[in-house]
Amino acid sequence: MNQNSTPLFSGLVEHAKKNPIQFHIPGHKKGTGMDPEFREYIGENALSIDLINIGPLDDLHHPKGIIKEAQDLAAKAFGADHTFFSVQGTSGAIMTMVMAVCGPGEKIIVPRNVHKSVMSAIVFSGAVPIFIHPEVDKELGISHGITTDAVERALQQHPDAKGVLVINPTYFGISADLSKIVELAHSYDVPVLVDEAHGVHIHFHEELPLSAMQAGADMAATSVHKLGGSMTQSSILNVREGLVNVNRIQSILSMLTTTSTSYLLLASLDVARKRLATEGHDIIDQAIKLANKTRKRINEIEHLYCVGKEILGTKATFDADPTKLIISTKNLSINGYDVEKWLREKYNIEVELSDLYNILCIITPGDSDKETDILVDALKDLSQTFGLDESNPHSHKEVYLPDIPVLAIAPREAFYSETEVVPFEESAGRVIAEFIMVYPPGIPIFTPGEIITEDNLRYIQMNIEAGLPVQGPEDYELKTLRVIKEHVAIK
Ligand SMILES: Cc1ncc(COP(=O)(O)O)c(C=O)c1O
Repeated sequence: MNQNSTPLFSGLVEHAKKNPIQFHIPGHKKGTGMDPEFREYIGENALSIDLINIGPLDDLHHPKGIIKEAQDLAAKAFGADHTFFSVQGTSGAIMTMVMAVCGPGEKIIVPRNVHKSVMSAIVFSGAVPIFIHPEVDKELGISHGITTDAVERALQQHPDAKGVLVINPTYFGISADLSKIVELAHSYDVPVLVDEAHGVHIHFHEELPLSAMQAGADMAATSVHKLGGSMTQSSILNVREGLVNVNRIQSILSMLTTTSTSYLLLASLDVARKRLATEGHDIIDQAIKLANKTRKRINEIEHLYCVGKEILGTKATFDADPTKLIISTKNLSINGYDVEKWLREKYNIEVELSDLYNILCIITPGDSDKETDILVDALKDLSQTFGLDESNPHSHKEVYLPDIPVLAIAPREAFYSETEVVPFEESAGRVIAEFIMVYPPGIPIFTPGEIITEDNLRYIQMNIEAGLPVQGPEDYELKTLRVIKEHVAIK
């Protein structure tokens, strides 16, 4: 297998070069039948390979030709037995992983700070989540991964679980001891499913945390589009044979996938794999060096702290990805979201994520000194404008993170129960029937079936007041919440 070849992309280009007379969808026919302004902007090349699963171009649902060849090359590059391409993002790949191992009433061990796609799959499958409390960093106000001790306790109490799901690395780039977790789970014959949305690159550089396949995990849903150079929405699902059924995975992925798969997205996965496999180490090396240099410069700025290797060493912080710049904004008079807005308005800088206490910037092979110089200059200005007088004890900002709510009934049961709508401020004590999260990062504050607490309502209120994107509930304005209906005795 030659990692320099791109069977899918090259096959599409060859097909387009023949300039076939198309009597098939897409109806824009190489762009001729579409809005001219859009056509000119996007370009004829892109539109000429916006094709569909006609005979010569294979079919993602039953790959036998160029898609199969591209997937096999990806499997080799990622050290997997099988790789499936996803045009439904990592969300689609995650839902496939969960639904491939769990049926109604079956248990799955998951950290509580999972992405909403995990909870959606739990609702769809009827699985019962056994939540593990992630380790919370009270200084930074972020959640890390799960500890091996917690996984061990969960497996001892629920040896009949059908899977353990691990986020490796987290949105903030922090990893647990994945090899140890895999070893533990496998000693119970339980497969390990990895949400690797933020870790496509880690497989290709020894200074980065171990990838799911390197650690021996059974499945990994990996966002090539986030940090691997493919187009937005394109991801892969890597699979190791043994504890999971490969044919079932393929059919579930197919059930969750559109029949009109985008060949632009698929081709971009093929070329991203080529680049990672052939040049990945060198380009990631440059990104690591640039990120480390930038971190050092940020840490020389008063009032700002950019997290580094010093946070390692707890049971949940086993390793970290240095290309993530977590910048704590706690010592500024404005919150993380206001910093995001200020950087946008004053410096035309867009960050990856902000929350009440931090901003997150990612450094990839797409960056150079030019961009990081602008960031550092902007952060110096930010510090001078909004720095708090740290000698004043009143200016010390406390991090507020509420306790995780208690799950009263299974998420699917709650989602399909008889419900009613109650005012937000009167909802404490009731069982919620909908999701509430801040996106990004998309981690549920509430998931269906949990008991609403005053603390969590206050936390939602704080996020709304800060202007952060609180999402999920039917009532966008969050004046009301949907809860399980209570049946009061008739007098
Ligand atoms: C931890 C985590 N898992 C899964 C996903 C879903 O990935 P995608 O957007 O490719 O569907 C995200 C997206 O932000 C994420 O942060």
